[in-house]
Amino acid sequence: MSTPTNGYALITGASQGIGAAIALELARKGFGIVVVARSEQALKAVASEAAKLNGGFAHALAVDLFAADGVDRMLAFLKEKQLPISCLVNNAGQGLWGMFDELGLEEQQRMMHLNMSVPVELTYKLLPQLRAARHGYILNIASMIAHHALGSMAVYSGSKAFVLRWSRSLRIELKSTNVRVTCCSPGSVITGFTERARMQALDDLAKKFGTPPEPVAQAAVAAMLNGKAEVIPGLLNVVTSKLQSWLPTGANEAIASGIYLKRLASRKA
Ligand SMILES: NC(=O)c1ccc[n+]([C@@H]2O[C@H](COP(=O)([O-])OP(=O)(O)OC[C@H]3O[C@@H](n4cnc5c(N)ncnc54)[C@H](OP(=O)(O)O)[C@@H]3O)[C@@H](O)[C@H]2O)c1
Repeated sequence: MSTPTNGYALITGASQGIGAAIALELARKGFGIVVVARSEQALKAVASEAAKLNGGFAHALAVDLFAADGVDRMLAFLKEKQLPISCLVNNAGQGLWGMFDELGLEEQQRMMHLNMSVPVELTYKLLPQLRAARHGYILNIASMIAHHALGSMAVYSGSKAFVLRWSRSLRIELKSTNVRVTCCSPGSVITGFTERARMQALDDLAKKFGTPPEPVAQAAVAAMLNGKAEVIPGLLNVVTSKLQSWLPTGANEAIASGIYLKRLASRKA
């Protein structure tokens, strides 16, 4: 059975948005792709577009990663199809906008599972395969929100801070191996994310400052292939992040949280 030049990349949350754009970018770079999310039709469309770019090495698997057996279902699929994974993109994630004690406990726990437990379990279970590849890559999608506290997104910002710190720590542990870990922290990206997170009251800002997913995917994949530890896609976001690093933590948190909390109050009114 023939295999793609660079082996296969498994991309979670690739039915739309940043994940779909990363899948297509990786297909352009010669990776076979396995795209995973819940929406089967959308996944199949991404896979068929990718197949045109990489000579037909594309698979789609519909799995609900909120489910406890989601990761094992992915692994069973890879085993059944005999797809050697050299690149793992932990992208599937969800936000929830609202005060911690006003959002439901269960929905916040589901989000924690998707944003943190799934990447950890999947990485743990795929690491032997990544280590067996000629070059192994892990690309984790965090957020600029990972870099500071944000009132009105307490659990989401905590989950993304976890992704960032875990990525950097794992990178240190894997330094002497063939596996490189890269963490991408996008700013605002125009995808289905804000609607799912019930952030429509921030739509005007997202449209003004947001970018399409394609340049984010290009920057993330380039950083991964160049073995970078971290990437913040977009000049505006890089400048913002630099400014934030110069500000005292409290001031930084107050500015960002001020905007989000004010808009949240207007949503309630
Ligand atoms: N958009 C932004 O402004 C932004 C900024 C910073 C970071 N991020 C991060 O970027 C990543 C991708 O977000 P996006 O903007 O592309 O959002 P999106 O358009 O909402 O896409 C999310 C993807 O995750 C999948 N997904 C969600 N829940 C799932 C579940 N239970 N099981 C399997 N797949 C699931 C969705 O597919 P199905 O619904 O088909 O399952 C979809 O493919 C997330 O980790 C997000 O936190 C986004």
